[in-house]
This record gives sequence, structure tokens and C-alpha cells, in this order.
Amino acid sequence: MKAIIIYFTGTYNTLHLVNKIKSRFADLFKEINVFSIDSDSKSIDLHNYDLIIFSYPIYAFNMPNIFFNYIKKLKLPKSKDYIIAKQSGEPLSLNDSSSYPLIHLIKKAKGNIKNEYHFLYPYNIHFRYDDNFIKELFNYNDKLLDILIYEYKNNIIRKIKYNPFYAFNSFIFKIQRLGGPINSKFYKVNYTKCIHCNKCLINCPTKNIILINDKYKFNTKCVMCMRCSFYCPKDAIEIGLFKSWKVNGKYDLNKIEESNSLDGHYLKNHTSKFFKLFPKKIKKIEDLHSKYFNLRTKVNQNDSRPRLNCRGFLFFHI
Ligand SMILES: Cc1cc2nc3c(=O)[nH]c(=O)nc-3n(C[C@H](O)[C@H](O)[C@H](O)COP(=O)(O)O)c2cc1C
Ligand code: SF4
Ligand code: SF4
Repeated sequence: MKAIIIYFTGTYNTLHLVNKIKSRFADLFKEINVFSIDSDSKSIDLHNYDLIIFSYPIYAFNMPNIFFNYIKKLKLPKSKDYIIAKQSGEPLSLNDSSSYPLIHLIKKAKGNIKNEYHFLYPYNIHFRYDDNFIKELFNYNDKLLDILIYEYKNNIIRKIKYNPFYAFNSFIFKIQRLGGPINSKFYKVNYTKCIHCNKCLINCPTKNIILINDKYKFNTKCVMCMRCSFYCPKDAIEIGLFKSWKVNGKYDLNKIEESNSLDGHYLKNHTSKFFKLFPKKIKKIEDLHSKYFNLRTKVNQNDSRPRLNCRGFLFFHI
């Protein structure tokens, strides 16, 4: 049995998720390959894989164009299993429609869509998340990952609802239309801070940054992934029209995950409008998690293998 995870990441949150998925599938698959999309990516042959997982960050209720354009060119094999593992900063249901085009492609290819899962990671644009909040999101992600593995092992397939209003919203907010042709022109480097390390230029996934006469120029291929400004060691890049939403500097995700000093109970003390979005989503996953895992304990307390072997049709989205 072979699996592949195909992903795009801007600021490496998706990569963090992909590594977790990979390690959780390790005992189920003889071989798991991981493939990252950037503008130089060559086409890959998917016919030898039994399971194909797509993973991406959500940009204004859409998947990254660079990712979808790549998938469109692939020949998706029929009768194979597919899972979508998307991730983003907040749990709004409006984000659900980001995967509609991908689901359409998989269905057209007669693939078996197992399920899709929405993981939560810190914002890389808008504002910075507190480490303890990230810890709380990781607790949610761990449960969701348990669910993903359990549902795959037990062939539990949930119906994916189509919501035309969400689809319309995704169309309207396609921020990437602005990214390359318009916003790129307003990117600026502050040369009083810049140390000419070339990190931005080397790491841009679309090779959108070039150096002319010692000045960095941003072309029109920007996908707004934020990698250049987020990882600039001197916080020297302004992100054009969205400059007030800039977040600079990496989150140390592994350190946060392993930390014993963070209790992961951030939301109980933060009840402003934005944070109110989270508890309902978290509760839904906790309930499903305890439903699956309590059931497993009841079925056979001495046997760690899940025994539920049915096709469940649960009419809600996670
Ligand atoms: C241009 C842009 C638009 C975004 N729009 C959304 C959004 O609509 N909803 C959301 O929850 N997060 C949004 N985010 C946040 C990212 O999805 C989130 O930070 C994600 O973890 C980044 O993943 P990456 O590090 O793999 O690129 C946006 C980020 C960017 C850069
Ligand atoms: S990453 Fe920042 S400091 Fe380095 S070259 Fe780019 S703008 Fe300058
Ligand atoms: S210019 Fe910056 S934000 Fe745009 S694609 Fe390149 S790294 Fe991403």
C-alpha cells in the first residue's frame, strides 16, 4: 500500500500538518511520499498510489491558485482513495467552500473521496496568535487527526455538503486576483533595515522576486503566500495594500507543541467576537472524538484496533 501527500505551503504551517499526517499513517502504509508544489513542480504520476491526500492553506475562503492550477494538470487516477486536509487560521464555515473545485475534480475523475478535514493553525496574516492559543488549536488538531485516521481505517465516509452561498462568497473574495497583478506592485523593501541576505528572493515559491541594481523587485506572479515578509530576518518587507495586516517572524510550532508550561486553555479567558468563533467548532470535534473512541473502548477493552466497520453518513461538516 502506497500513499502520497501533495501540498502547498506559504509559511510552513501546512508542512507541519503534513508531517503529522505522514507520521500517523506510517503504520498503515508501506510507503508514504510527500510532494510540495511550487512554480517549478514537475508533473507526477499518481497511478501507483492507493491513497492521495491533498493539503493546503486557505486564502480568503479559497485554495491557493498555484495549488489548484497544479492539480488541474495532473491526471487523477480513478477508483483511488482521496482525502483533503485543509488548514487555516479560523474555523468559519465560509472556509468550507475552498475545497469545492478540488472535490469537483476528484469526482470527475471517479475517485473515492473519503473525507475532508479542516485543521486550525495560527494566522500568518492579519494578527499574531498567542502561543497558548496555538497550543489549544493543536489539541483540537490532534483530535481531528485521530478522527481522520479512525475514519480512514474504518471506511467511515461523511457526506460533504455543497453550499452555493459559500461558493459565491469564495468567488467574490478571491484575494489572489489582487495578489499578483495589483498588490505586488505595492510591495516595498525598507533598505534601512534590509541586510541583502536574499532569503526572500531564494525562497519565494513563484520566483516572483528579482534583484536589479541591488534593489529587490516584485513581479506579478505573487500568490500572497507571505513567505518573503514573514521570514524576513529584519522585518523589512511591506506587503502592499495589506501592510496593516502583516505578521512577521516564525511561530515555533514544535516548541509550542512540546511545551509543558502552556496549558492550552486560552479561549476561556478570551471571549471577544473573533474568539467566539472557535468553541463551537472545537466542541463538535471533541464530541465526535469521544463518540468514536468511547465506542472503541466499549466494543473491546482489550483490543486496541477500532472495530466500527460501517459506512457512516453524518450530515455535518468538520
Ligand atoms: C492571503 C491570505 C489569506 C488568508 N485568508 C484566510 C481565510 O480566509 N481564512 C482563514 O481562516 N485563514 C486565512 N489565512 C490564514 C492562513 O490560512 C493560515 O495562517 C495558514 O495556517 C497558513 O498556512 P501556510 O503556513 O501553510 O501558508 C490567510 C492567509 C493569507 C496569507
Ligand atoms: S529577506 Fe529581508 S533582509 Fe533579506 S534580502 Fe529580503 S528584504 Fe532584505
Ligand atoms: S513575493 Fe512573497 S508573498 Fe508573493 S509569492 Fe513570493 S514569497 Fe509569496
